[in-house]
Amino acid sequence: MRRNSASTHAVPAGALLAIAGMLLVAPAAFAEHSAEANYLLHCAGCHRIDGRGFTPDVPDLTTELADMLRVPGGRRYLVQVPGASQAPVSDAELTALINLVIERFAPQALARGETPLALEEVSRHRARKPLDIFSERSRLLELIAALDRADELTRESERTE
Ligand code: HEC
Repeated sequence: MRRNSASTHAVPAGALLAIAGMLLVAPAAFAEHSAEANYLLHCAGCHRIDGRGFTPDVPDLTTELADMLRVPGGRRYLVQVPGASQAPVSDAELTALINLVIERFAPQALARGETPLALEEVSRHRARKPLDIFSERSRLLELIAALDRADELTRESERTE
């Protein structure tokens, strides 16, 4: 009787350990997901499937993202933003993931001639010291506003020529 209860206890404990072991190994063993699956798994919870997020807390990826690609530092920021850089995916998967986000939510950047991110670029930025994301985001938004003003002035001077 005593032996039986000891062995019935031992089985579930062993099974639990085996499951825990599988869970620890699983992310490495099954790491290669499509960019689409990774977006759903690691990004959509905050940014939503349509990229619109929950403003002001989670930015709408369909608005500023295209502009971030045209200002200096923008590409590094997209890699270093914690939701992206800390996602449990390889550098190759993160590259595909960010490029999917750009293709889907900021296609105007690609139409304008911006190139998708390269694996080498993502690995390099991901390995760098993390930025102060909050102040970097404000800096980029100021640069974007300055570029918009410059474009507006160019258009005005073209009109008066
Ligand atoms: C826990 C919520 C959360 C998750 C999960 C998340 N993000 Fe974010 N994301 C944010 C927030 C909040 C910001 C604004 C910057 C900041 O405070 O980190 C942001 C900013 C961004 C930006 C820059 C846009 C901008 O306007 O500043 C990109 C690009 C981005 N995330 C991509 C991703 C990708 C790709 C994933 C999935 C791998 C992801 N995020 C997962 C919350 C999240």
